[in-house]
Order: sequence, then C-alpha cells, then structure tokens
Amino acid sequence: MTRISLTVNGERVSREVEPRQHLIDFLRLELQLTGSHVGCEHGVCGACTVKVDGTIVRGCLFLAVQADGATVETIEGLSDSGAIADLQAAFHARNALQCGYCTAGMLVTADALLAQKPDVDRDGIREYISGNYCRCTGYHAIVDAIETVAQERAKQRRGAR
Ligand code: FES
Ligand code: FES
Repeated sequence: MTRISLTVNGERVSREVEPRQHLIDFLRLELQLTGSHVGCEHGVCGACTVKVDGTIVRGCLFLAVQADGATVETIEGLSDSGAIADLQAAFHARNALQCGYCTAGMLVTADALLAQKPDVDRDGIREYISGNYCRCTGYHAIVDAIETVAQERAKQRRGAR
C-alpha cells in the first residue's frame, strides 16, 4: 500500500491505496464519488473522464498513485460549484441524454472543450467529444447542447465588453 494525498473537489484527501488501483476506482470506491462511470476500462469510451490538474484524463487509465499531490475535479465538484450549470441545463433542455451513462464524462469533456476553445464550431465539438461514446442519443442533441452553450457564453462575453 502507498499513501497518497491529493485535493478532490476542493477537499484535501489522504488514503492508503494499492499501487495498481486506478483513479476512477479510488474515486468511486474509496471516496464514494460515483457520478463518474466505468464503462470499457480500456480508455475507449470516456465514461470515466475526470480532471487532474485541469486536464481531462481517463480515470480508468490513470493510477491513483499518479494523482498524489494533484488537484482532481469530478462531475460532483463541477456540478456543486455551478461551473457547468449552463451545460447541464442545455443537456436537459435538448434531451441530450437518455440512459445517462455517458453524461458525466460528456459534461466534463464539454466543460474542458469550452474552456480551451470558447468559439468552437460544430465540427470542432464533434471532434473533441469523439473520445466519449454515447450509445443512446446519436450525438446530435449533445452537439446541439454544447453549441448552444458556446453561443450563449460568447454572447455574455460580448455583453460584458
Ligand atoms: S471506462 Fe475509462 S475510457 Fe471507458
Ligand atoms: S445517454 Fe446513454 S450512453 Fe449516452
């Protein structure tokens, strides 16, 4: 076992972990942060997407010990802070989720995309979320929702000038 200390959603956490434990299992099993899901466990589906030091990672490919000293944000933290309230509302309004299994990863990815490329277009949205699989929606509604938020935020930025 190895002791790790990290910040998760603004709270300092210290735990003994198995060196082989993945970050997504640490978050779900040790911290009961079960909003992020586990799908393929092979880095393909994106259901386990979380942020480590501001960068999105696959929680199923990232070891908990690699997060020692890091700042981790999960869907719970992003949701509780209100940082993605507009994205959540847009997903809801556009019916951009059905079973919801992909949704946490999709929202974390969309949040990272809009932070990096606020003026992204539909093709850019499709490309960026191409690593997040959704088996229900056919993606159109998800792209619509993210595009709507990109446009609303752009309007707010123009209004603030
Ligand atoms: S569970 Fe991590 S990418 Fe699918
Ligand atoms: S809403 Fe079911 S997998 Fe995306």
